[in-house]
Amino acid sequence: MAVEQPVAVPDHPAAAGDATAVAHPNIALVKYWGKRDERLVLPWTDSLSLTLDVFPTTTRVRLAPGAAHDAVALDGVPLEGEPLRRVVAFLDLVRERAGLPLRAVVETRNTVPTGAGLASSASGFAALATAASAAYGLGLDATGLSRLARRGSGSASRSVFGGFALWHAGQPGHADPDLGSYAEPLTVPVRALDPALVVAVVDAGPKAVSSREAMRRTVDTSPLYRPWAASSQADLIGMRDALNRADLDAVGEIAERNALGMHATMLAARPAVRYLSAATLTVLDAVQELRGAGVAAYATMDAGPNVKVLCRGAEAERVAAAVRGAVGDGAVHLAGPGPGVRLLGPSPDADA
Ligand code: DP6
Repeated sequence: MAVEQPVAVPDHPAAAGDATAVAHPNIALVKYWGKRDERLVLPWTDSLSLTLDVFPTTTRVRLAPGAAHDAVALDGVPLEGEPLRRVVAFLDLVRERAGLPLRAVVETRNTVPTGAGLASSASGFAALATAASAAYGLGLDATGLSRLARRGSGSASRSVFGGFALWHAGQPGHADPDLGSYAEPLTVPVRALDPALVVAVVDAGPKAVSSREAMRRTVDTSPLYRPWAASSQADLIGMRDALNRADLDAVGEIAERNALGMHATMLAARPAVRYLSAATLTVLDAVQELRGAGVAAYATMDAGPNVKVLCRGAEAERVAAAVRGAVGDGAVHLAGPGPGVRLLGPSPDADA
C-alpha cells in the first residue's frame, strides 16, 4: 500500500512522527464484563489478567501531513466500516490531546486470529496507544498509556504491562473518572506459580456478536449481571491472595468459576448471548478429566468459543496433548507469561 513519508514536526518537538510498538494479548483470570461509561470505557468491576508471550501485535503509526483521512491497514488490508471508525475515533482522541491535527498512516500486523475471542483488541489497542502516543508526542508514562489504551478497548489497558496486571475500575463519582481507571502490574511469585495457558482454538472465525454489544446487552437485560459483578469483586480478593501464595489450584478454581459465571450472565441476557459451542464443552470435559487424573487444569473462555486452560508450565505438554485430543482439527498453542508493550527503535522494518 502506498504510504506518505514521515516528516519531522517542527512545532511539536516531542512528536516522533513515526513510531512502532509491539504488544501481547492478555487473558483475564477475573473478567471485565460490562461498562458503566461507554464513552470513557469505564468498567463496573476490577479485573485481573496474565499477559501472554504469544500472538504479538505490531503497529506502526506515521503522521501524514496533507492527508485528508487516516489510512489504517490490518495485515495489509485497509480497514473499513466500524473497525476503521473505532481506530479513527481513537486517533482523534490522541490528536486532541496532542494539539496536533495531522492524519496518520497506521499499519498493524496481528499474529492472532482477529475477532475470535483471543484478545486481539487488547494487544491491538495497547500497541496503537503506545505507537500513537510516541508519534504524536503525548509523553505518557505506563499508567497514562494504560488509561489511553483503555479508551480503545477496555482489556487493552492491561496489555500495557507484562505478567499479571490488575485493572482498577475506578470509583463512580470520582472528580475525573478517566484518571481513576487504569491497570497496574502485580508482583506475583511467578516462578513458584509456574503458570502456563494452553489455548485451544476450536473456531478461529470472527464472532457473531461483538463483545461490546454483548456486554451492553448483558448489563441492560441480564438478571444475573449484578450478582456476578458482586461475586467478581470477591473473586478478585481471593485471586490476589491465591497468587501471592503461588497456589495454582486456587487461582485456577477462581478463574474458572469467574469465567463460567460471566458466561451465565450472557446466557441469561435477553436475547441470550451464547459464545460457548459444543466444541467448547468437549474441551471443558477434557479439562475435568485431567483434574480427575490429578492434573491441575482449569478453563477460561472469553467472548468466543475458544478455551484457555490454565495449568503448570511443567505439565503444559501433558495438558496440551489431552486438549489436542478434544479439539479435533482445531489448533492448540502453548503460552506463558509475556512482556508489556514495547516501543521499537526509530527505523523499524514494519513495512517489510
Ligand atoms: C471477555 O476489552 O474486547 O475478554 O472494551 O468493549 O473493547 P471493549 O471490550 P474488550 O472485552 C474483553 C472482555 C473479555 C474479558 C476480559 O478480557 O476481561
